[in-house]
Amino acid sequence: MKGLILSGGAGTRLRPITHTSAKQLVPIANKPILFYGIEDMAAAGIVDIGIIIAPATGDEIREHVGDGSQFGVRVTWIVQDEPLGLAHCVLIARDFLGDDDFVMYLGDNMLEQGLTEFVEQFEGARHAATEPRLGEDHAAPAAQILLATVDDPTAFGVAEIGPDGEVVQLVEKPKVPPSDLALVGVYLFDSTIHTAVASIEPSPRGELEITDAIQWLVANGHRVNHEVLVGWWIDTGKKDPLLECNRLVLDTLKRRIEGEIDADSMVDGRVVIEAGVKIVNSTIRGPAVIGAGTIIEDSYVGPYSSIAIGCRIIRSEIDNSVLLRRSAVTDIPRLTDSLVGRDTEITKGDARPRATRVMLGDHCHVVIE
Ligand code: TTP
Repeated sequence: MKGLILSGGAGTRLRPITHTSAKQLVPIANKPILFYGIEDMAAAGIVDIGIIIAPATGDEIREHVGDGSQFGVRVTWIVQDEPLGLAHCVLIARDFLGDDDFVMYLGDNMLEQGLTEFVEQFEGARHAATEPRLGEDHAAPAAQILLATVDDPTAFGVAEIGPDGEVVQLVEKPKVPPSDLALVGVYLFDSTIHTAVASIEPSPRGELEITDAIQWLVANGHRVNHEVLVGWWIDTGKKDPLLECNRLVLDTLKRRIEGEIDADSMVDGRVVIEAGVKIVNSTIRGPAVIGAGTIIEDSYVGPYSSIAIGCRIIRSEIDNSVLLRRSAVTDIPRLTDSLVGRDTEITKGDARPRATRVMLGDHCHVVIE
């Protein structure tokens, strides 16, 4: 079994961060989102992983991941010139995938349950179908999809499930949903999917849709199994789900203190403070993680904060926020629910007239108190 991770795309919903960086490299608890997916694949025993990258952000992703040896896997890079859809990624990965079964994973998604059970179920079903004495009376599945129960199925790709657990139909954003089971960004395929992606046409938004390819499998008599997700699943492609994902991962943190904390500071609860951090006259209340070389002075860092390496937090209060590397926050009474990009400065000035003064990039979003 091989792995295919989709780390290209446009990332428009996470601008301005994605103007200069890949959204799959945004850190959750100070580790790039993409790394969790690679680790989950490695844990499921998948060693050969193809990663789809876009021309603009691919080099940065390559630098971070390297050859994969830090995860115990081998990485093959596949450049997608334009974000032409999830099924287009399968199309361009044909040489890498060969005729092997594979798991496809969206590089900006995170799952609590990991991939092991999902992969084992598919391999088990395929094996049972080729061994009649195991009592299976239906064909080997050509695909297996992961579904999550959602409150509002009209916003998702929704599956209709038949009497013995096979998928009978997939509908994109249905007005009258056939179930409350939405498609999660993890898929298992055998080589039949290559015929499917070569047979479908681009959708009205100009993309080759993976839902159309799976629907093609069903319509052409191939069995598609499903599993219902256990635990949480988050598509981190927007700010608020990203902060939610950060909270969920920080909740699993183990306390580890390596930096310097002076006698006037207090560090409470599950907190990671990396080497080279300096905490002076401040309170850190976990769960929180503070990256190497960050300086925190006369400040409060509250629950669900992930502060990357080389940041400076001076006379400020922060909680429920993700700060990327080398950002500085000075004299800010309260910063909350925020995602702050690299090398960004937020400060309070005394200049008259008293006013808010900004230099913001394109597609920023600022809420002033
Ligand atoms: P999406 O989040 O659906 O698409 P996007 O990255 O273009 O984001 P936005 O809607 O904000 O513009 O993509 C899911 C994952 O798949 C993500 O990791 C990017 C990746 N992807 C590709 O690699 N190639 C593609 O053609 C598309 C559409 C997505």
